[in-house]
Amino acid sequence: MSDYILEMTNITKTFPGVKALDNVTFKLRPGTVHALMGENGAGKSTLMKCLFGIYHRDGGKIIFDGKEVDFKESKEAIDAGISMIHQELQPIRMMTIAENVFLGNYPLGKFNLVDHAKMNEETKTLLNEVGLYIDPKTLLNELTVSQMQSVEIAKAISHNAKIVIMDEPTSSLTSSEVEKLFEIIDSLKAKNIGIIYISHKMDEILRISDDISIMRDGQYVGTWPASEMTTAKIIQNMVGRELTSLFPPKTNVVSDEVILRVDGLTSPNPLSFKDASFELYKGEVLGIGGLVGAQRTELMEALYGLRVLERGEISVHGQPVTIKKPADAIANKIALVTEDRRYNGIFGVLSITDNASIAALKQYVGGFGLLNEQKMNEVVDSNVSRLRVKTPSNKTQIGSLSGGNQQKVILARWLANNPDILILDEPTRGIDVGAKYEIYQIINNLAAEGKAIIMITSEMSELLGVSDRIMVMCEGRVSGFLDRDEATQESVMTLATKFMVGEQEGE
Ligand SMILES: Nc1ncnc2c1ncn2[C@@H]1O[C@H](COP(=O)(O)OP(=O)(O)OP(=O)(O)O)[C@@H](O)[C@H]1O
Ligand SMILES: [Mg+2]
Repeated sequence: MSDYILEMTNITKTFPGVKALDNVTFKLRPGTVHALMGENGAGKSTLMKCLFGIYHRDGGKIIFDGKEVDFKESKEAIDAGISMIHQELQPIRMMTIAENVFLGNYPLGKFNLVDHAKMNEETKTLLNEVGLYIDPKTLLNELTVSQMQSVEIAKAISHNAKIVIMDEPTSSLTSSEVEKLFEIIDSLKAKNIGIIYISHKMDEILRISDDISIMRDGQYVGTWPASEMTTAKIIQNMVGRELTSLFPPKTNVVSDEVILRVDGLTSPNPLSFKDASFELYKGEVLGIGGLVGAQRTELMEALYGLRVLERGEISVHGQPVTIKKPADAIANKIALVTEDRRYNGIFGVLSITDNASIAALKQYVGGFGLLNEQKMNEVVDSNVSRLRVKTPSNKTQIGSLSGGNQQKVILARWLANNPDILILDEPTRGIDVGAKYEIYQIINNLAAEGKAIIMITSEMSELLGVSDRIMVMCEGRVSGFLDRDEATQESVMTLATKFMVGEQEGE
């Protein structure tokens, strides 16, 4: 008997222009959590997709549960006992939660009809296990990103698998949902199930993994017991060099010129934001802190014309403006980089150039209303290289890029639009440490050029490390402001829970 439930050896996979996997070895012991780490584009998701039957490897051997396997499609992998929580959520939005969970696997009752009652009942039990107490008949469309991610987790544990692959499972979860997931992971371990865990969140990795494997540029670097690893060692092996600081030095100067003033913004939805007022200065990075559910995204979407307002005023450069739709926001040089890139952000089948320029097309219209393609390509090229997007060419479809690189293309898009006010909602979600540094550098440089930036982030270190000033929200209301030098984890958390009564969610 082998010590391993899974042995992948010498796996190779080439895409046009990219050697995504080059002789990669990966071995998983049953009943353990094995973290798979590496920079954006290192090949983590590709390795897992080769195992799961989504991609077909060019070479190498996979032994699962003592037998050599070669899954031709995901269904074969699932039937054999492998489950996967995908990095890019793929819910079918017009179906209910229960239908999504049982997709392709519906329980049949009398006359071979789908047994909806049974399906809903079993889904309810699964949802409770992941801490979701909502009706299984709810349409996916009505859920928040974090709830969708929990549904995805429920779906993965529903298959009675021997291996569960989790590719960035916590990217949108609230802290209490993360705790629930960790409890689930413990119970899976107790059942001797092996877990492959992919994440860019160092603290999670060090907390829950037994072993850590690292990949770099499609190659296998090594495997270590987690107890022997530190953040610094992991980073060094991931990027191949030492990273001395996580944040670039600040070079922007905040002016006293108010670029944006927001006064009493209130949503018609009583559970959403109310009476939000703040000012944003030229050259400033205003961080917005708060727990998931604080209505930060909703407030920013309203500023961008994606949500209706009950009342409140917005002025830009001292002039009152009406923003009812994104075109109004764009006309006032406001840009929004959304949190849920798959549904609001990217156009998967279009090329990088198309995706990066879509918001700025007007700028490239020349004489006779024709698109000046050369100019467009120049701007995109410069932004794509500025952000170091890892891609064989700018004609590549964005859907085939690694998750973190897709995020960079979205940023490149807004840089092409040359906004005065740039709103970034969780800009570094799913981005590796090296690329995060580059994004912070870009934020810093934009502020130094006199742009005003609003950044929503759930990562405390990022909030403290990048912002000039922090606005904290709690349950739809602004609970306070902190200057860079007075902000600490504690002062932010105190404000983030200020209006909560009874059960407190948080650290
Ligand atoms: N379907 C595809 N077609 C072409 N290239 C692809 C495809 N899928 C992945 N790649 C390329 O393979 C490389 C590895 O990508 P992969 O998604 O495995 O990275 P990753 O390690 O999961 O990164 P991230 O942390 O950003 O999710 C990248 O260069 C990516 O662009
Ligand atoms: Mg990935």
